[in-house]
This record gives sequence, C-alpha cells and structure tokens, in this order.
Amino acid sequence: MKPIKVGLLGIGTVGTGTFHVLQRNQAEIRGRAGRGIEVSMVCRRDLAAARAVVGDSDVVVTADPYAIINNPEIDIVVETIGGCGLARELVLAAIAQGKHVVTANKALLAVHGTEIFEAARAKGVMVAFEAAVAGGIPIIKALREGLSANRIEWIAGIINGTTNFILSEMKAKGLDFDVVLKEAQRLGYAEADPTFDIEGVDAAHKLTIMSAIAFGVPVQFDKAHVEGITALQAADIRYAEQLGYRIKLLGLTRRRENGIELRVHPTLVPANRLIANVEGAMNAVLVQGDAVGTTLYYGKGAGAEPTASAIVADLVDVTRLATADPDHRVPHLAFQPDAMSNTPVLVMDDVITAYYLRLRVADQAGVLSRITTILAEHDISIDGMLQRESADGEKQTDLIILTHETVEGRMNKALGQMQALPTVLAPIVRIRKEDLA
Ligand code: NDP
Ligand code: HSE
Repeated sequence: MKPIKVGLLGIGTVGTGTFHVLQRNQAEIRGRAGRGIEVSMVCRRDLAAARAVVGDSDVVVTADPYAIINNPEIDIVVETIGGCGLARELVLAAIAQGKHVVTANKALLAVHGTEIFEAARAKGVMVAFEAAVAGGIPIIKALREGLSANRIEWIAGIINGTTNFILSEMKAKGLDFDVVLKEAQRLGYAEADPTFDIEGVDAAHKLTIMSAIAFGVPVQFDKAHVEGITALQAADIRYAEQLGYRIKLLGLTRRRENGIELRVHPTLVPANRLIANVEGAMNAVLVQGDAVGTTLYYGKGAGAEPTASAIVADLVDVTRLATADPDHRVPHLAFQPDAMSNTPVLVMDDVITAYYLRLRVADQAGVLSRITTILAEHDISIDGMLQRESADGEKQTDLIILTHETVEGRMNKALGQMQALPTVLAPIVRIRKEDLA
C-alpha cells in the first residue's frame, strides 16, 4: 500500500520533534499503521529554519500553508502553528478539502472545538488531538476509549509543565519566579505567550477538553474558572509544607448533582498523595471512574519529542481508520453526537471545596474567637489551625486555618465579614484544598 502523505503546518518545537520521530521510527510505525507515514511538505515562514530541519531529504518546504492544504497528494495535515486565528482558518480549510487533521493546539480546540468537530463530522474526516492535553501522556485515549465503561466522577491534573517546573524549582532551589520562567522558555515548555502558562489559561484549555470527553458536554472554555500562580506567596508554600500539604496548580473537573465543576487554581494537596510529588515539568492526571476507581497517568507534558509521541500516535490511528466508515470511528468527544449532554458548568459560588486561609491579624485577645465565630455562623467547619508570630517583631501574627469542605459562595460571605474586622490587617489569602481521596 502506498504511504500516507502528511503535511506539517508549523515546524517549530513540536513540528520538528514530529519530523524526527517519524523519520527515526519509520519501520515500527509502518508495522503498526499498516502502511508508511511520510512527511512530504512542511511549512513555516522562516524557510531557512525549515530547511535546516528537513536537511537534504526531498520534503518540500513552503511558507504558504495553503500550498499544503490545497495539495491533493496530502492526506493528513498536522497543525502545530498554535493560536486561534490562523490555525482555526487553516484547520477549517483542511477539513473543507477533505483532509484529516492532527493538532497539538489545545487553545484552538477549547475555544473553537464545537465548530471544528462539527465541520469534521459533516465532511467525514477525523480531527485527532492527543498532543493537545498533557503532551506525551495518552490521556485522551485513556478517557475516550480505555475508560469508556465508566461513569467518570472527577479528573484532577497537573497539566501545565511550565508552572509545575516553576513551583518545583522555586521550592527546591529558592530561585526567583522570573529566573525559572526563563529556563522553562529555554527548554521549550512555555507557550509562545507565557502568560497563558502562569495565569492558568493553558491548563484551563486542557481541562476543558478533558471535561468535555469525560462528561459528554460541549467544550466550554468560557465557563472555566481560571487562576494562575502569579499571586502565590512563598510564605504559603512554606506554611502548606508545615501542615503536610504541597501547593500545585491543579485543573479540576467534577460531576456534582447540579452540574459540572470546571476550575484551575493553586491547590493544597496532601503531601503523601502521589500527585503531590510530581515535580519539574512532569504532568500527572488522576481520573476517578465508578468502576475502575482512581487511576493515575504520569509523564512528560511538554517538549519536542514527548509531544511528537502523541502526534505520531494520532497519525497511526488516523492512518488505520482512514478507510473506515466515519460512523464507526471513535467520536471526537467520546460520546456520539446525539448522546451529548447539556449538563451546566457550575459557577464558582456553587463549587464545593475545602480551604486554606491565611490571615494577618493583630496579636490581641479575642481575635481568634471573632474569626471562628464568623466561620461557625456560615456553617464552615475548621479542620486545623496554625499560628505563627510575624518575623518583623510587631504585634501581629499569621493565623492559618484549614477548613472542611463547604460551598464557595458561603466561604465568600465569611471572607467578606472576616476581612472587614479591624483586627484583620492585610488581604486574606485563600487557597483551595483538595484531598483527592
Ligand atoms: P513553535 O513556536 O515552536 O512553532 C510554531 C511553528 O509555526 C513555527 O515553525 C513557526 O515558524 C510556524 N508558524 C507560525 N506562524 C506561521 C504562519 N503564519 N505561517 C506559517 N508558519 C507559521 O510552537 P510549538 O511547537 O511549541 O507549539 C505548537 C503548538 O503545539 C501550539 O499549539 C502549542 O500549544 C502546542 N503544544 C506545544 C507543546 C510544547 O511542548 N512546545 C506541547 C503540547 C502542545 P515561523 O515563525 O518561521 O513561521
Ligand atoms: N506550555 C505547556 C506546558 C506546553 O508548559 O505544559 C504543553 O502543553
């Protein structure tokens, strides 16, 4: 059988990794796919850089993405340009040309997934996106196929390597945020715009995709609650350690009676959980299914070849299924289109979670009792407490309170009242806490 022909839109970090893995492992890949998978065209504006990757092979190099999309010889288009503007146009144009698409672009799918999947379904082509979530970890395959017997209850993941790398290096080496971010960029983990990483947006893109697959709902990035790590203070990382917790940027999506939670924020996790010990740029995703229980997926979530591993696996899948009846392929979001649900995404006020609170208070009699009274009045139960004298020798102290689970709206009201007390001297720090048991 003649090889399937691939065009790479973008040959930067991920595109280059894909090119190299396909070349290096071509015999194994052919054996698995049933036919060869060959890159015949690559595209980027810097033609010299593209030529440096393809070397003296007969791969055609172009700066015009439409030269690939309009080429009838190309069967599969791999999109690794990134972003939501040009990438959206190109992916839709490739689909319109009847080409299958493989993409690593989580931003594109989290925001425009519904439009793209619908266009692909109408045209009978596949859009594969394993690389879009957790890089080399085959989490899409696990959720969509391996766990298809289960009613998924929740997913919790460290799904941004850059922020996990930053948190780990800051904790272990006492390095400054900016220094570690630069290193993450040098290593190719960070997005073109690193604010997407550090503000939690990239993790929310990935979480949105996983949530849609797990619960059979449309991708709804605009409903996700997104908080990054830029406001995290070293004092809280330290206090969390003293209390037996680590702080991780977690993406959490959970089925509740009244809807689905979809949230990314720094989270205290018990230090003895495996996921709390995931360090550096590694990713890990916990999935709780009713039949299987808790499962954990761990590996490299970014970088040229780990991400290429996922892209090439998609290329193999698409090659195997290219001639299958489109109705017999795995649906993009795991559920058949007529079995999708309209379960709402919950607003943060309705989310249920536990909390770490740090209050800078005047060191006076009665202060603690006023605070605990407010919590009790809102039916918020205290799980643990720590008091630390302030280092500056003033009559102030840090009061750290761990609570049991409560509804966020209730906690917000309590926080408002506590913040208004004259003895609370600085903005209260609130970090959510999950036991992930
Ligand atoms: P890079 O910036 O390294 O690569 C992007 C490529 O697209 C470059 O070759 C660039 O070349 C090309 N490109 C950009 N604009 C155009 C254009 N107008 N016309 C033609 N080519 C263009 O990004 P990455 O490889 O890191 O990321 C690509 C995608 O993969 C993103 O969606 C990212 O989120 C995703 N991803 C990245 C991971 C990683 O570890 N890096 C991991 C998982 C997913 P030139 O500027 O010369 O045109
Ligand atoms: N910027 C992303 C990260 C790349 O740091 O995890 C992988 O999606």
